[in-house]
Amino acid sequence: MLQNDLILRTLRGEQTERTPVWMMRQAGRYLPEYIVLRNKYGFFERCQTPELACEITIQPVDIVGVDAAILFSDILVVPQAMGLEVQLKENVGPLLPDPIKTAADLARIRVPEVDETLAYVFDAIKLIKQELNDRVPLIGFAGAPWTLLCYMVQGKGSKTFDEAKAFCYAQPELAHQLLQMITDTTIAYLKGQIKAGADVLQVFDSWGGLLSPADFEVLSLQYIRQIVASVKDEVPTIIFAKGAWHSLEAMSATGAAGLGIDWCITPQMARQFAGNQVTLQGNFDPAKLLSPIPVIEKEVKEMLTAFGPGRHIANLGHGILPNVLVDHARAFVNTVKEFRF
Ligand code: CP3
Repeated sequence: MLQNDLILRTLRGEQTERTPVWMMRQAGRYLPEYIVLRNKYGFFERCQTPELACEITIQPVDIVGVDAAILFSDILVVPQAMGLEVQLKENVGPLLPDPIKTAADLARIRVPEVDETLAYVFDAIKLIKQELNDRVPLIGFAGAPWTLLCYMVQGKGSKTFDEAKAFCYAQPELAHQLLQMITDTTIAYLKGQIKAGADVLQVFDSWGGLLSPADFEVLSLQYIRQIVASVKDEVPTIIFAKGAWHSLEAMSATGAAGLGIDWCITPQMARQFAGNQVTLQGNFDPAKLLSPIPVIEKEVKEMLTAFGPGRHIANLGHGILPNVLVDHARAFVNTVKEFRF
């Protein structure tokens, strides 16, 4: 039995004694204890060594006091398992030197046996569950097929992912084959995470907001829908499609227990679009954690008041920035934990 199951109860729509809180990308990035490990081990070494992934996952629980742990890994381990080379360049970001551009490229990759290629993730989850010892739930995750396609086709980060879009618009059949392969891999991967002990799952569609509402349905949501349908009866699932506020109603209809929102929509508008049957998660502007602590405290209280009691998990509207001071992250978390309606 979990000692702190606030997030699980909130995802079920139960009234709780206070609003639960965690931060996207809370493991890694800004924590000095993480930087020590980053200087010693390569990125994928950290992901592939269960003891390291476990230590990094639990750091924010111990240091910042969040109500959930999120697995330390990356969304790009899935394209890697499918047979694409993925590098992470310090201070630059992901690089995939041989991206998918043609049918011949697509023939180079496959839907892998996840128990072989991603076993290290499942081993990490088992170890984390053991070490957490039921203090807080563990969130597993995967990238949404559209966001993974962005990296697999563009080959690197981008503000517009125009080459990825061009691939989809010029070669739609290939694009849909690729999206379905990613979806099939992701379903097996997330089922493996559940079997290993993940209590909640989140699907990150970081680049969903680059698409028009119609393209979001065709290139992203129809695949997310398959993923949610295959896991939602086993564990509560959260969809975070950054910028895709126009589709909150459609995302709610997938049966997801939670929907992440960013700071470009008010909680009131999000609730109107999403309806009352889903928990909202968000939506503090991550850059606001760079404000003085009293400003953070004031704005967090305003955010909590705007969401109102119940059906809300406090979070940032995107990942925490690397230059946030730990005291500021703690101020965010503590303000939520002390607030009462
Ligand atoms: O709380 C957590 O941080 C859990 C682990 C986690 C990482 N990546 C570790 C990581 C999670 C949940 C992710 C998700 C992820 N990865 C997303 C979706 C969420 C989002 O922020 O939009 C995306 C788009 C990626 C792809 C990715 N990985 C990028 C663009 C980068 C470089 C920029 C950066 O620092 O985020 C990465 C590398 C990465 N993944 C790091 C970490 C801690 C930084 C590299 C390092 O510290 O060595």
